[in-house]
Amino acid sequence: MIYLTTPIYYPNDRPHLGTAYTTVVADAVARYWRLKGEEVFFLTGTDEHGLKIARAAEENGMTPQEWVDRIVHRFYEAWELLDIANDDFIRTTEERHRASVQRLLQAIRDAGDVYESRYEGPYCVGCEAYYTEDELIDGRCPIHERPAEIHSEDNYFFRLSAYGDRLLQHIEANPHFVTPETRRNEVVSFIRQGLDDISISRAQLTWGVPIPWDPSHVTYVWVDALINYISAAGYAEETSERFDNQWPVWAHLVGKDIIRFHAIIWPAMLMSAGIPLPRQIASHGFLLVGGEKMSKSRANQILPEELIETFGSDGYRYHFLRDVSFGPDGNFSWEGMVARYNADLANDLGNLANRVLNLAERFRGGTVPAVSDPDAPEEAALREAAAGALADLAGFEEFRTKQALDGVWRLFGAANAFVEATEPWHLAKDPEAAGRLDAVLNALLEALRVGAVLISPVMPKAAAELWRRLGLPGDPGDGPLDETGRFGTFPATTVEKGEPLFPRIEA
Ligand code: ME8
Ligand code: MG
Repeated sequence: MIYLTTPIYYPNDRPHLGTAYTTVVADAVARYWRLKGEEVFFLTGTDEHGLKIARAAEENGMTPQEWVDRIVHRFYEAWELLDIANDDFIRTTEERHRASVQRLLQAIRDAGDVYESRYEGPYCVGCEAYYTEDELIDGRCPIHERPAEIHSEDNYFFRLSAYGDRLLQHIEANPHFVTPETRRNEVVSFIRQGLDDISISRAQLTWGVPIPWDPSHVTYVWVDALINYISAAGYAEETSERFDNQWPVWAHLVGKDIIRFHAIIWPAMLMSAGIPLPRQIASHGFLLVGGEKMSKSRANQILPEELIETFGSDGYRYHFLRDVSFGPDGNFSWEGMVARYNADLANDLGNLANRVLNLAERFRGGTVPAVSDPDAPEEAALREAAAGALADLAGFEEFRTKQALDGVWRLFGAANAFVEATEPWHLAKDPEAAGRLDAVLNALLEALRVGAVLISPVMPKAAAELWRRLGLPGDPGDGPLDETGRFGTFPATTVEKGEPLFPRIEA
């Protein structure tokens, strides 16, 4: 089973390009694995406890539960607009999660890793995290740039300090535990500086999961949130059958700002409770607009729905998967997105589909015989590009979405070159070349068919539409990839030209 997760998002913030980015990458990778024939469980959800939510609810004159029940829909709607096919959506206010948090906390307490003590320090409500004085910039949170509040209370603490060596050993022994390498190095050097114990409860807050042995405290929201990943795998269920099948998770996808929670605190909690560790924490950078991190406060926030309106969900997904490398920060610009859409989708793919379907209709009334000419040099080159594209698609296994798509676009480039080299309109004038024309048209339809399969994790709608026009049954995402992604001979279906798949966008 391939189990993969996005972070669970704070529903106070509307889904934005950043949260949509993680979710789109996870969805494309999940679809890739399904296409390969793997059993997949893809989880996303919302992080609904904590001070930030409690305060927003109060400002809006609602109870926290009423507030989250209302705003969680933003996420359902955004993910539907983006064709996100998650297998589950977890909300931390669900009973299955409460039970799982309490079970895990009890387990780490039983392991002797919990004690009570007093905590005082600067706290950023935006991050829901304590800071040390030297992490602040002029008394302000380095991420939210607003003044930190001084919080002080009796808390339960988790003995994180006891896990430094074990974490280092694990990272050493499992080079892919934290990716990419820059983040791994950051995590290692942070652990080497020595870990402090962390507070895991809040006495002054009621909006959270009660600590099982002391219900006058609620669970610290980050500890609560991390546990979602096992809640959704059935950690609190009566029998461990489902949990054993689903856990450990194949990959947690996270932004670089929350890597320490995932690569240090979370695995230490799991070690303490005797639960296997995630296989991989895969971290991406920030999307920047004009070189700056997007945020509500900076008024440079672009909403996903604005882009979907212009580019469609496929155009949206394609852009971020092709133009942003998973790992480093990436810049977003409207101009760049228009240029990419027109060049790759309207021209390379859209025109190719249009041209090929048009030729098939014009010269063969939409039905091309199932014959091919694999030894013709032009076709051999096309077949080689297709084999390369199929191999490159495995880039998804390492979140190299750009590489995966580069290969597919080399196939489309080869198919466009094939049209120029074979000149079907000349072959059509020569009755003796009828067999050759059949084979040429067949190879082009086959290139489109393979292309539809290979783009299906990224552009499920366009892939399905292309598939339909090709007269093929089922869906290009059905797989298994090893069969459907292989270049062969196109069946003698009846194809249909249709409207442009990706109408050009004027800048
Ligand atoms: O942190 N570019 O939730 P969150 C790319 N609830 N990614 C960005 C981004 C940007 N400009 N801005 C934000 C939380 N993100 C917790 C998670 S998980 C157990 C709990 C990403 O709603 C950010 O890196 O603040 C992070 O991965 C995600 O959005 C979290 O969003
Ligand atoms: Mg955040």
